[in-house]
Amino acid sequence: MAVQLGDTAPDFEADTTEGRIRFHQWIGDKWCVLMSHPKDFTPVCTTELGTVAKLKQEFEKRNCKVIAVSVDDVQSHKGWIGDIEETQKTKMNFPIIGDPDRKVASLYGMIHPNASDTLTVRSVFFIDPNKKVRAMITYPASTGRDFNEILRVLDSIQLTENYKVATPANWKPGEDCVIVPSLTDPEELKRRFPKGYKALKPYLRLTPQPNL
Ligand code: BEZ
Repeated sequence: MAVQLGDTAPDFEADTTEGRIRFHQWIGDKWCVLMSHPKDFTPVCTTELGTVAKLKQEFEKRNCKVIAVSVDDVQSHKGWIGDIEETQKTKMNFPIIGDPDRKVASLYGMIHPNASDTLTVRSVFFIDPNKKVRAMITYPASTGRDFNEILRVLDSIQLTENYKVATPANWKPGEDCVIVPSLTDPEELKRRFPKGYKALKPYLRLTPQPNL
């Protein structure tokens, strides 16, 4: 059964480039972004890992840990890290899970046999501190991910879990949000959105981002 939104993220024990981990314990009370990489020593993955290393502080600001998985062993990952650091001009600062038997890839459905039966696709799982899967994104191996988009999704999930809003198309932090349609009580609207709101339609109401 494929992992779906709202499911508990499958737990596992695995070797990583930073030692052996039990996944849920490693996440602790943080958020987590788990991302798969089709294979070690491949060009797009090399740029992705370097990009994430440079963005580590942005993930930390969001109380979020990042971990990568690739279907090679940790020894191979360690060799590859040398190339990542050299070519991407950064220090690797988060773990890569060794997954030579594809245990993690299978648990999370990261291998899509009609795309490739050996390499993983580029999956991203957003996992909350309760270990629930809150979002998933899937790209083909040939398309490197946009990690600003991944930070944006994290911002949206963290915002919408605390306020009765959702984020509209192309929303960026700081921009107006939409009020969830189920909220109609005028007193509650006033209390939750003291800056007011603009109703374009009864179901489409825009309000300034409530936590700013
Ligand atoms: C890459 O990371 O460059 C890559 C991996 C698998 C297929 C195509 C590209």
